[in-house]
Amino acid sequence: MQVAPSILSADFGHLSRDVEAICDGGCDLVHVDVMDGHFVPNLTIGPVVVETVANAATKPLDIHLMVENNPFFVDLFAPLKPAYISFHIEEEKHPHRLIQKIRSRGIKPAIVLNPHTPPEAIEYLLSDLDMVLLMSVNPGFGGQHFIDSVIPKAQKLKAMIEKHNPQCRIEVDGGVNDNNIKRLADAGVDIVVAGSFVYKHPKGVKEAIASLRVKSE
Ligand code: DX5
Ligand code: ZN
Repeated sequence: MQVAPSILSADFGHLSRDVEAICDGGCDLVHVDVMDGHFVPNLTIGPVVVETVANAATKPLDIHLMVENNPFFVDLFAPLKPAYISFHIEEEKHPHRLIQKIRSRGIKPAIVLNPHTPPEAIEYLLSDLDMVLLMSVNPGFGGQHFIDSVIPKAQKLKAMIEKHNPQCRIEVDGGVNDNNIKRLADAGVDIVVAGSFVYKHPKGVKEAIASLRVKSE
């Protein structure tokens, strides 16, 4: 199981320090939540701040767009060379075109599904994707309660991926902690995003990341 801490729960007054802490603490990816105040009722960070994150990070960036006008934001963030850019299928009329645009910039394309969106919505896109991100909360905020229906959904998606594109990874985002990670691992999830669990852990970020790994086994 790979762990991608979300910097949404970091202390933005000490952002570089908090990015270094998760990288030194053994994370696999640095998850960056970009919100525009339109697609979701919250506003986060743009390329100026994400450049600071990229400079501090020694692990690849995983940029999660929660925005309207995805192509505009892909152009803004592509120069920072993230490993992944993921966009919401609920907000994209031309997903194949956007996947090609992301891939043409040397970045792995991923699609995000909100909790209510069925995996069948992206069946004909799976062969073109490097990752599918399943939301296990309604996007917009850290610290929300895990929605359990993501477990059978991940199982269903895993079966579809085996058929269409076995290399495609499954990531889950929202309310992930050491109580639900084993069920996610058993359902076929490859990567978890964890914000508040990692940054608010009483023993610190390194212990938090390690405990997610141990509990996933
Ligand atoms: C929510 C974001 C998540 C969030 C996760 O819209 O996409 O990445 O930061 O935070 P936790 O782990 O606290 O639910
Ligand atoms: Zn996210």
